[in-house]
Order: sequence, then C-alpha cells, then structure tokens
Amino acid sequence: THQWRGLIEEYRDRLPVSDTTPVVTLLEGGTPLVPAQVLSERTGCEVYLKVEGANPTGSFKDRGMTMAISKAKEDGAQAVICASTGNTSASAAAYAVRAGMVSAVLVPQGKIALGKMGQALVHGAKILQVDGNFDDCLTLARELSEKYPVALVNSVNPVRIEGQKTAAFEIVDMLGDAPDIHVLPVGNAGNITAYWKGYREYAADGLAARTPRMWGFQASGSAPIVDGAPVLKPQTIATAIRIGNPASWDFALAARDESGGLIDKVTDRQILAAYRLLAAQEGVFVEPASAASVAGLLAKAEAGLVDPGQRIVCTVTGNGLKDPDWAVAGAPQPQVVPVDPEAAALRLGLLG
Ligand code: F0G
Repeated sequence: THQWRGLIEEYRDRLPVSDTTPVVTLLEGGTPLVPAQVLSERTGCEVYLKVEGANPTGSFKDRGMTMAISKAKEDGAQAVICASTGNTSASAAAYAVRAGMVSAVLVPQGKIALGKMGQALVHGAKILQVDGNFDDCLTLARELSEKYPVALVNSVNPVRIEGQKTAAFEIVDMLGDAPDIHVLPVGNAGNITAYWKGYREYAADGLAARTPRMWGFQASGSAPIVDGAPVLKPQTIATAIRIGNPASWDFALAARDESGGLIDKVTDRQILAAYRLLAAQEGVFVEPASAASVAGLLAKAEAGLVDPGQRIVCTVTGNGLKDPDWAVAGAPQPQVVPVDPEAAALRLGLLG
C-alpha cells in the first residue's frame, strides 16, 4: 500500500526543488475530484468538483505553502510573513510550525472568518489585525519583508504558484486529459495563474492533448478585473475573495485570453445559492468564496452559454467549516425534545 507523499514528492521533477531542499510537508494535494451529479444534470455536461477543502489546513493554500516554506527554509529563513483574508495565514502558520519557524500574519480587521483566525492562533502565529483591507495588508507585508529578515509567502512569491499548479496536474492525471473548461473563484488571482501554468506545462510536454478554457469568477462587490479598475472598498460576504487590487491581475488576464476563457462576476446572492446547492444537493460543504466558481458556471448555463456534453472542472477552494456562520444563518434552530423516542419520532415526522 502506498500513501500519497505530498505534492513535492509526487511531482518533484516538475517543481523547483533539489535533493538538498528540506521538504516541509503535511502531505497536501491528492485531493478528491468528485463527479457532481446535480451540476452535471443542470448543465448537460460532465461536471467535477476539485475539492481543495480536503487539504491539511482546509484550503488550496497548502499546495503553495509546502513549496514556499520549504524554499524559505532552504534559504535559511527563520521567520515568514503573509497578508491574508484567512486561508493563507492558516496555512502559513501550520507549515511554519512544521519547519520550526516563526510566522507573522496580517489580516484585515474584523473581516476574516472565525475558523481561519482560530487556526492561525492555535498554530502560534503572531497576528496583527490591520486597520485596512487585504490590499493594505499585502502592501504592508511586502514592505516588512523588504526591510526586515522575514520571508514573504504570499502568492507574489513565485514558488507559491509552482506548488499550486500541481492541482492541474492531478486533474489531467485523473481524467486522462485536460477538461474543456476549468472554473475558479478569483481573488488575488494567484490560483487561476497557477492552474493555467500547470495545464500549459502538461500540454507542452505531451501529457495533455489540450488546455482548458479558464473561467474565473469574482464577487460583484470585489470585481476589479471585471470592472477594469481597482476597487477601493471591496465588499462581499465571501471574505476570502474580498480583494480590490489583485497582485496577479495581469497573469489572470493572460490566463483568460490565452485560453479563450472569461472572467466575470457573481453576486453574493448567487454565491450563497451555489453554496447551499453544493451542500444540500452534492454533499460537498465549501466556504462561500469557493462557491463563486459554481455560481458562475450555473449563471453561464442559465444564460445558454455552456454547450452540453463538455467536461468541466470547478475548483472549490476551501472547506465549509472555515466559515460555518453562513450554514447556520437563516436555518431553523433544531428543536429540543425530552429523552423520549415517541416525542423524537413525532418531531422527526416518522410517525406517518
Ligand atoms: N477561495 C478561497 C477559499 C481563498 O481563500 C482564496 C484566496 C481564493 C479563493 C482566491 O484565490 O487569491 O489565488 O485568486 N485567499 C487568499 C488568502 C487571498 O489570503 O487566504 P486567489
């Protein structure tokens, strides 16, 4: 029997590591590619979910972080820093523990999900809540990494993209080729950049016969790429992608244009509808930002813009447990019953 060895070992020859790179890993990657029955019926396509919430800290960030922290360790770094809407900080904090490093994280005040804050805290990160948004946090993190001995592990660090591109490899390895369309939520735009790089590398080396069209979706209150200008006060319930000035903006445009794809926006209402559909009808619990990919696919299908019969992969980027407030909000409080089978059966509607 063979356990998945983590993405650096699984894809070592395709990553910038050497025999002397210390591999810092929690055995990330190798995530499920789940056939989505209801989404397939609704679109007339063969839809899959790449469930990145199954990574060790519950998001796709672990793919980039195993690389970023391994390379930082190789370079002799003793401390790392990142700006984050929550998932990057959770991942950086966990991998820093594995590496015996100190982690510092900058998050927008009051705007990150409780589960993510809890992760950073319990892994012992030094956390600062910045009186500003994510974009301000990233500016500050960059400045600190330039002036002080602390390595930046945001996705502006190119080795993060290298780690994250392995998700595209896994999909092609599973399906035997690239899908027709790959759909992603877009925030700082590192992940769409990474997938596009991964798909291109596999196609260039003859491991895939084609590349997919890349479809990215931003939240409508935080959609600088779609609107064509930075958003000074980005808004959305999907706090993970509440970003007004994406660092990888140009790379996202390149992914869109080179692939013949699109980047569009979805409303919070559409995001929440997709979030509920995924949980209630596919059995996959994701965080709201992750549902932006599925919301976008459904919107395009409803507009008649998805030809039937295509193979489509939607990345769902983070675990629903990160931000359970949205699962509980609006749902009825479970009723209280005495320890009595008949009372319980009555409440459960089992009495016929
Ligand atoms: N989905 C989730 C759950 C995320 O946490 C993020 C980004 C994205 C999608 C967007 O990915 O930035 O590569 O376009 N989260 C970052 C963070 C910003 O700090 O955790 P992107």
